[in-house]
Amino acid sequence: MSEVQLRVGDARQRDVGRGIARIDQRTMQKLGISAGDVIEIVGKRTTSAIAWPAYSEDQNRDMIRIDGFTRKNAGVAINEYVIVRPAKVKEALNVTLAPVDMRLNVDEDFTNFVKNRLMERTLVEGDTTLVMMLGHAIPFVVTKTRPHGIVKVTAETRLTILSEPAPEGKGVPRTTYEDIGGLHEEIQRVREMVELPLRHPELFQRLGIEPPKGVLLHGPPGCGKTLLARAVATESEANFITIKGPEVFSKWVGESEKAIREVFRKARMAAPAVIFFDEIDSLVPRRGLGFADSGVTERVISQLLTEMDGIVTLEDVVVIAATNRPDIVDPAVLRPGRFDRLIYVPEPDEKSRLQIFKIYTKGMPLAKDVSLENLVALTKNYSGADIEALCREAAMQALRRDVNAKEVTMKDFEEALKRIGPSITPDMEKWYKSFMQQVRQVQKPATPVA
Ligand SMILES: Nc1ncnc2c1ncn2[C@@H]1O[C@H](COP(=O)(O)OP(=O)(O)OP(=O)(O)O)[C@@H](O)[C@H]1O
Ligand SMILES: [Mg+2]
Repeated sequence: MSEVQLRVGDARQRDVGRGIARIDQRTMQKLGISAGDVIEIVGKRTTSAIAWPAYSEDQNRDMIRIDGFTRKNAGVAINEYVIVRPAKVKEALNVTLAPVDMRLNVDEDFTNFVKNRLMERTLVEGDTTLVMMLGHAIPFVVTKTRPHGIVKVTAETRLTILSEPAPEGKGVPRTTYEDIGGLHEEIQRVREMVELPLRHPELFQRLGIEPPKGVLLHGPPGCGKTLLARAVATESEANFITIKGPEVFSKWVGESEKAIREVFRKARMAAPAVIFFDEIDSLVPRRGLGFADSGVTERVISQLLTEMDGIVTLEDVVVIAATNRPDIVDPAVLRPGRFDRLIYVPEPDEKSRLQIFKIYTKGMPLAKDVSLENLVALTKNYSGADIEALCREAAMQALRRDVNAKEVTMKDFEEALKRIGPSITPDMEKWYKSFMQQVRQVQKPATPVA
């Protein structure tokens, strides 16, 4: 049987959630298939997708473009290789789906609705598949199929939908790179700093490059720091341990430093691993800021410093942190050998805003008069979170106007713009950059550090 090996690339925004794989003409010929046929994609897992013609610039590149869901279903990351062959598809007798992260009220109508949406789609046990509902993509895990293998949903298929979510971690994809508008360079930098050393320690050894121990994402609120880290977590091979700064104090009252120790211990055991401290400013606020906390903060800071100093690079643990208030993070944490690589996550520029609008209006029925380009021009200084809120508000506005509204109009967006304003101020970028510059100045080895 014919099969080919192809390099995995990411999907265009418009292809996300469609279950298609873009492959070029030459590859289709080799496989003896044509567009619309089902293919089997084998990475660490096996999944299926519908072959679709490649974009012209991808001709003869031996690559396959699939979205984050399909990548997760195939157990591969971007730039890895998969085996692709024509699929042997069987008709599904039974399919069981479970929701992800939520409970559902399931009745016959609902089940029929979902079944209609899945008609002719191919599924594999363990896959996560998206079902469009009211303009939203709702993920479901395929918990069981009969027969096994690649199956197609037909009118005869008996569909069961569980109301309880699938157990965590069972191949459930979360944030993927396609969920992020813009930030391409930032994603690339994070991956280089985090994934490369964990995956290819030998490269760093050979080249004599010291990989970073800690990477700090900083920048204005709502612009994608947490999102970016979550996407890297989903897409990377490493085990990700995420800790939200404020949680350490609330969940581990009185023993917060023990929590830190525990996190690093877990990471070493799960290596290669990445620890992500989100909102690190609340975990290690600058000492002497007057938070009366009977020394807890002090102990947490010194525990974190001990652990970070104890990391032997290339031994499989990297730490990422994020903050929108680098100025209140204890300076000791930012010294060389700790969080010494900085990545600024900027407010979205026009191109990024357009992508963010596309993400949040995807599946939203837009009236003809809605021009995303115009909206981009009207949303200077809006963060990604602001744009998301704006789109949600516009949809709400449409419903307020008419509960049976079929479309969201430009007027709805204009109303929404009145309610949702920009949260970024013009000088923010300057402020972050110059603050970080200062930190770097202080860090110069010759300068005595306080
Ligand atoms: N670049 C982006 N692309 C798509 N969505 C975005 C983007 N930036 C922000 N969002 C949306 O806004 C939400 C908030 O973003 P996120 O939590 O990543 O911000 P943050 O930079 O971590 O902010 P904070 O400093 O307040 O923690 C995201 O969950 C996402 O829905
Ligand atoms: Mg955040």
